[in-house]
Amino acid sequence: MPNPILTSIADRVAWVRINRPEKLNALNSALLNALHKTFSELRQQDEVRVVVLMGAGEKAFVAGADISEFAEFTPEQAHTLVAQGQEKVFDFIENLGKPVIAAINGFALGGGLELAMACHLRIAADHAKMALPEVSLGVIPGYGGTQRLPQLVGKGRALEMILTGSMISAQQAFDFGLVNRVVAADQLLTEVAKMASQLLKNAPSAQAAALRAVKAGYDPSQSGYAVEKELFADCFSTADFKEGTQAFLNKRKANF
Ligand code: COA
Repeated sequence: MPNPILTSIADRVAWVRINRPEKLNALNSALLNALHKTFSELRQQDEVRVVVLMGAGEKAFVAGADISEFAEFTPEQAHTLVAQGQEKVFDFIENLGKPVIAAINGFALGGGLELAMACHLRIAADHAKMALPEVSLGVIPGYGGTQRLPQLVGKGRALEMILTGSMISAQQAFDFGLVNRVVAADQLLTEVAKMASQLLKNAPSAQAAALRAVKAGYDPSQSGYAVEKELFADCFSTADFKEGTQAFLNKRKANF
């Protein structure tokens, strides 16, 4: 069986490719486990500062959870599937502590769009198509889609997408604020690499703190403002803060 996830690391950027193109990279349990393992390793690797996630082949980022795998599930099995998936993959990626860019190289449907939304930034090829079509299968999004989509595009647009299940184009996704950029398909990797290199210029500990502070604002059990104050103060004890401020005062580029 081919490796379900292909990872290569170059210049502090890890390129993670979901490798099941014959099934449009649909997420089966083997893939979810492999994604968890891959992201657990990348979290530990300090030399990796930015992660890019994409699908193998030219047709799909990820065409959803593997429908053939869950079609016969009981409610208990379905609960376990999404609870584990959210914890081990979707929330895990959002909480990785380093920026993750989704390079949306084709269909991002259902769990595929939810995976892209768990990433922090999204760049789409112009042929990409996005949807949460779960209601067409008699189910709702279960990997955070009912939460992250309204956060990104607003409740009205999210409900339209979730209730109709209709596909939107990359350009519409950009107009909605669902993706950060739309680029020609043959420029996708170049544009993603450009964004990664912009991220690499800045302090990783500050980026990790910013990711946590922004996330806290969407967590009803936390006060985003209080978390921001704590994390702001914590920054003052970091080597990155010393380097950033000293570089500015000495009129040189910071080296993070
Ligand atoms: N789960 C399981 N298998 C899937 C899949 C999914 N979510 N999405 C695609 N596949 C499989 C197809 O069954 C097909 O397998 P086969 O060649 O063994 O028959 C293969 O991937 C290629 O897909 P196909 O449907 O032939 O491609 P297409 O170009 O005609 O259509 C899509 C592309 C994306 C429109 C179509 O595959 C689709 O609607 N997929 C399901 C999308 C979805 O509902 N996702 C949400 C799941 S919660």
